[in-house]
Amino acid sequence: MRVLDDYLATGAWRDLVREYETPLVIVDAAIIRERARALRRAFAGAKLFYAPKANYNPHIVRLIVEEGFGIDAVSPMEIRLGTTLGVEPKHIVYVENAMSPADMGYAIAEGVRMVLGSLGAVQRYCVAKPNSEVSLRVNGDIGASSHHYTFTAGPKTKFGIHVTQLADARAICAAHGVKITGLQQHIGSNWLDPEPFVAAAEALVVIAKAFPDVTMLDFGGGFGIPYRLEDHRLDVDALGEGIRHLLRSHKTHSGRDYEIGFEPGRYLVAESSAILTTVHDRKIGSTGRVFIGTDTGFNHLIRPALYNSYHRILNLTGADRETERVDVCGNLCEESDYLARDRILPSAKEGDVLAIMDSGAYGLAQAGDYNLRLIPPEVLVDGDSHRLIRKRRTFNDVMAQFDV
Ligand code: LLP
Repeated sequence: MRVLDDYLATGAWRDLVREYETPLVIVDAAIIRERARALRRAFAGAKLFYAPKANYNPHIVRLIVEEGFGIDAVSPMEIRLGTTLGVEPKHIVYVENAMSPADMGYAIAEGVRMVLGSLGAVQRYCVAKPNSEVSLRVNGDIGASSHHYTFTAGPKTKFGIHVTQLADARAICAAHGVKITGLQQHIGSNWLDPEPFVAAAEALVVIAKAFPDVTMLDFGGGFGIPYRLEDHRLDVDALGEGIRHLLRSHKTHSGRDYEIGFEPGRYLVAESSAILTTVHDRKIGSTGRVFIGTDTGFNHLIRPALYNSYHRILNLTGADRETERVDVCGNLCEESDYLARDRILPSAKEGDVLAIMDSGAYGLAQAGDYNLRLIPPEVLVDGDSHRLIRKRRTFNDVMAQFDV
């Protein structure tokens, strides 16, 4: 598998930093294409919907769409992102959350597949569009994730219609002539073992027995990536085979065949990107703790601060130095602004350039301009060429929204 470390080892990043300065996000197009093709191979015949919540940069989404992916949208603007890039509405699925009447009106007008996640949404949809077709998001009680914030099944999560309430959903739909043609679930994010996913898929297949009109089963996303060097890679081929085996044996027993769908986000983009950041401060605290101060922070990558997530950090200018235990900090005026704590890294000096790895998913997508430390630019490296795919934001860009 191609990894961004190889590109960084060539030293080609130096020209990019000279041209665009830090903080700078670099994105390797080849990694995105490779991951997309790996999924297409593993899930041949399935519908793949990319979840742009992981990364909505249209240049990146376009790369993925060109690999034959549809869009898994969670808002009207994500639907619009898909249609703007030329994705046909039949290849866009809208998985709603607390959908407003305006959200619903937009999705209905665009003609995308609707996946409803509460009895209230089912009721409102059925009144707005009787005698139509719809999908339901099922909470089947089986979840998987590396963090409780991204575990999305079971009685404590806000997502989906719980299995115990599906009969009510069926009754509401029947009363309005609405056919339930699809069932969807998303059990959680960033899991690395196929077993819970296949077990949850099996549970959905069993649930589908009570839905005679269902022709589409969408098993969601959540495919994890090895953030730590010691993590294993998710075996997507084994996962694909597990799902195919499940559906084959189900077909033998019930005679029913389904179109199947998946909604990967992170898997396609996470490993493609790194934030390059300059060390501007090195401070030894009163107890000997070493704080490395950089020109990025949780405004650009909130995952460490919010989920205690681990991102590998490379010192691109001092990889061979003696190691030491450090805290890598951002430049925000806030105590939670750490990119890594207690990390063993080559000793960093002021002026060094670090790479915060695997920042392509839920990185700039969750970024902001906090402290008026503005969202950094992005450069897409594609073979021997590169191009700016997100401009550096300026003070005037930020002020423009306030009409000053
Ligand atoms: N489908 C649905 C319905 C989802 O809710 C999600 C993610 C996905 C697909 C895509 O999941 P993925 O393949 O990217 O794991 N900000 C968190 C992750 C939140 C995931 C939200 N839903 C993080 O940085 O880990």
